[in-house]
Amino acid sequence: MDHILVGNGSDELLALVLRATIDPRDRVAFPVPTYSLYETLVAAQGGEAVTLPFPEDFRLPPALGRARARVTFLCNPNSPSGTLVRLPAIEALAREVDGVLVVDEAYVDFAPTHALGLVGRLPNVLVLRTLSKSFSLAGLRVGLAFGHPELLAGLRTVKDSYNVGRLPQVAALAALGDLPAMRANVARIRATRDRLTAGLQRLGFDVLPSEANFVLARRPGVDQTPTARALAARDILVRHFAVPGLHDALRVTVGTDEEIDALLEALAAS
Ligand SMILES: Cc1ncc(COP(=O)(O)O)c(C=O)c1O
Repeated sequence: MDHILVGNGSDELLALVLRATIDPRDRVAFPVPTYSLYETLVAAQGGEAVTLPFPEDFRLPPALGRARARVTFLCNPNSPSGTLVRLPAIEALAREVDGVLVVDEAYVDFAPTHALGLVGRLPNVLVLRTLSKSFSLAGLRVGLAFGHPELLAGLRTVKDSYNVGRLPQVAALAALGDLPAMRANVARIRATRDRLTAGLQRLGFDVLPSEANFVLARRPGVDQTPTARALAARDILVRHFAVPGLHDALRVTVGTDEEIDALLEALAAS
């Protein structure tokens, strides 16, 4: 039990890590593009965000481990790319960084491997999980941190005493007690993800191999703002990031089979 801390969603746990570990101007490193909250939380805490661009194939930037950061974030599988960094590379990174390595595994139930096994061996690794994605329980606000007891003791000193209410606790226990239901949910989403990927490729998109519950589809060099707007006009909501390097991409969440069919039809017509 002393290796686990429960949070009000994994977003709270991300905030607690920074509150517990960094002083103003301390460096916090992460590859980009990634979950945008990291940058916001670092700014709120007065830290210095050290961002390293992923290469095109979304392997780890080699300089990440040498960034002299007090905290390093690795979103794995990564959002918005959906790509997965394999275990040997994560372990090597954990051994190379100076401070804490936070492996944000919000989407890991959709992937074939995870880094939980590193926690018992490496005291600077913190693995974050959530019930918001694979369990489809985002409104419950329950996240889990797995790490060395000393690391978690530091997080406990800066958290609210009663950060997770009694009702979410009961519901989370019920959800975690029924892993087959989660796995059935994941299997359905992975099957639809394959169909979505093939459909987008047929329409001429480059689609990165996704290990998450969304895919990043790209028309290289072609701004996807008009496509996202045309879809929104038909009540089909996909993510378009108006930032350099992602303007030609759409992040599509794997919905139901009917929703995916509607999306593919609308894209074919646009
Ligand atoms: C990479 C990543 N980490 C963490 C979270 C936060 O999840 P939670 O609902 O557990 O706060 C999200 C949610 O979008 C996410 O995409």
